[in-house]
Amino acid sequence: MVQIAPSILAADFARLGDEIRAVEEGGAKMLHVDVMDGHFVPNISIGVPVVASLRKATSLTLDVHLMIERPERYVGAFADAGADMISVHQEATPHLDGALGVITERGLAAGAVINPATPVSALKEVLDQVDFVLVMSVNPGFGGQKFIPGSLDKIRELKELRARYNWRYRIEVDGGVGAENAADLARAGADILIAGTSVFHTADAAEAVRKLQRIAQEALTQKV
Ligand code: DX5
Ligand code: ZN
Repeated sequence: MVQIAPSILAADFARLGDEIRAVEEGGAKMLHVDVMDGHFVPNISIGVPVVASLRKATSLTLDVHLMIERPERYVGAFADAGADMISVHQEATPHLDGALGVITERGLAAGAVINPATPVSALKEVLDQVDFVLVMSVNPGFGGQKFIPGSLDKIRELKELRARYNWRYRIEVDGGVGAENAADLARAGADILIAGTSVFHTADAAEAVRKLQRIAQEALTQKV
């Protein structure tokens, strides 16, 4: 079953509660939350207090994507705020293993993220311990960018490695995901499709979630 994780970066922050109810109604089980520090990526977004408010407003799984330098410094604060899943970039810390360990120690799902120019092999030593891997299919920092097709090969590679070594991580993909590539992504092996613009920049966010879900599921059914 492929899951759709709406990325609130594309939502109207002044109406965040309504936007969340819409995607809940559309069947979303997760919300993707992009945290940017203006250093690791050239943009600033939201931080700990927003995650704490989201936690009060919804029971959806909160998937917090840390696009910040040395993310291990903030894992505790986001865990306290109510994150369920936290992902850290391979490129953002010399202590990836340690950062993942802090997330796991807090009892949360730990994810490792790779930028478009980072190969899957950069995660080789941690793939046996992560709960999920996030493949960036755009350069991080902004919503609304164009999907980088080479990401499909990384997803296939991760799926193959998981099967070969009997690992357990789920595969997420983030950036430029929409109705036009959801089928390919599901077939390649993505378990979680993160979608901002294609969900919230539409007239009906609930319907946009349903549509992505339908496309992804149908792609998997057809394959069998
Ligand atoms: C980009 C963020 C994404 C972003 C995706 O740095 O990590 O989560 O919200 O936005 P879209 O779906 O618009 O590409
Ligand atoms: Zn993200």
